[in-house]
Amino acid sequence: MRLAEKVAIVTGGGSGIGKEASKLFAREGAKVVVAEFNEHAGQDTVQTIRETGGEALFIQVDVSDLDSVERMAAQVIEQFGQIDILINNAGITQDAMLSKMTPEQWHRVLNVNLNGVFYCTRTVAPHMVKRGSGKIINTSSIVGVQGNMGQTNYAAAKAGVIGVTKTWAKELGFKGITVNAVAPGYVETGMVATVPEKVLQGMLEKVPLRRLGKPSDIANAYLFLASSEADYVNGTVLEVNGGLSI
Ligand code: NAI
Repeated sequence: MRLAEKVAIVTGGGSGIGKEASKLFAREGAKVVVAEFNEHAGQDTVQTIRETGGEALFIQVDVSDLDSVERMAAQVIEQFGQIDILINNAGITQDAMLSKMTPEQWHRVLNVNLNGVFYCTRTVAPHMVKRGSGKIINTSSIVGVQGNMGQTNYAAAKAGVIGVTKTWAKELGFKGITVNAVAPGYVETGMVATVPEKVLQGMLEKVPLRRLGKPSDIANAYLFLASSEADYVNGTVLEVNGGLSI
């Protein structure tokens, strides 16, 4: 049990990578808060965890809304009294080439994927500082490192996530809190299901392991960074992409 007695918030814990991470963290002994916009998905994750003897709580949140984030964090503190781990995993895509990308698409993706990370961390970090410990893991993407056709908004947000990760690692490190990012490659979730088959095949040929990532591949990286095994890992971007970036 690598996370025994820990309280972990997983944003976007209702599906894909976040769901896998929530289940894994619960198996490792954490009390998991599934902080999710989609009520049905969030409840489903919690039920699955409870059925296997784990402890989990669903809280509906929109990470792009500071009030909603503050209500979520207050509820976690009321219920569990502490927050040890924050996984800023919630994310969306709204793809379009630059010439067709609307300001609404730009703002929506920035609001969820970058403002959401800021709101959650700004709200949760003071609770960790008070106790002198905590682990924050932000989800970036290979797209934030390399850019990608049709993803101006997403690339900007995910590159921003790397910037804030390194900044907070410096600001919070001496207060006992580590801040790291995971940058997944292409992972088999609903997010990638929208990528046309031909594009996907082209991508796979560039992955030395010749397969998409599984949600568990990314959840395992979250687990490492959230566990005491990563106590001296701070401000890093862990690339989990089957070698796609080399
Ligand atoms: P997903 O679409 O399966 O899950 C995302 C979850 O976030 C959903 O349950 C959704 O309801 C929730 N969510 C969306 N907006 C929200 C909001 N405003 N507030 C709270 N929850 C919200 O996607 P997936 O693939 O599991 O993605 C998880 C993270 O991994 C995202 O940050 C994504 O950008 C990142 N990522 C995914 C990759 C992939 O290939 N699937 C590659 C690189 C990064």
